[in-house]
Amino acid sequence: GAAVEVDISALKPGEKMTVEWRGKPVWILKRTPEQLESLAQTEPQVADPKSDRKAYPIPEYAKNQHRSIKPEVFVGVGICTHLGCSPGDRFQTGPQPSLPDDWHGGFLCACHGSTFDVAGRVFKNKPAPDNLEVPPHMYLSDTRLIIG
Ligand code: FES
Repeated sequence: GAAVEVDISALKPGEKMTVEWRGKPVWILKRTPEQLESLAQTEPQVADPKSDRKAYPIPEYAKNQHRSIKPEVFVGVGICTHLGCSPGDRFQTGPQPSLPDDWHGGFLCACHGSTFDVAGRVFKNKPAPDNLEVPPHMYLSDTRLIIG
């Protein structure tokens, strides 16, 4: 499939855009400082904090706590690694239905309840076997991204 070029200059902190790549939704989330800080708090709660699992290739530049090239910009495939539903945004923090009381923001797959933090890392004891996939991507400039 062809690579997709994306202009992210209009994306504000806390906003997410979705582009299509190889028929899959790819999310680009510009994380707020608070969302980035939440990754230290979710670190002990997620199943594979360092993205060591090998079900699909994870780019080297995403093998870090924020799972991205630029700390604030998360690029991930918006398809649950369980059975392929698309998780929904749950960026509000704190207690809410289907989420733990100490929720720091992230994604909820409504199909079978898998939850992911704002780096797409799956929480422990959830049906999804893996973190969300990070597609191969690179920056052409500060605000132009190429996916694929
Ligand atoms: Fe997402 Fe089953 S498809 S939890």
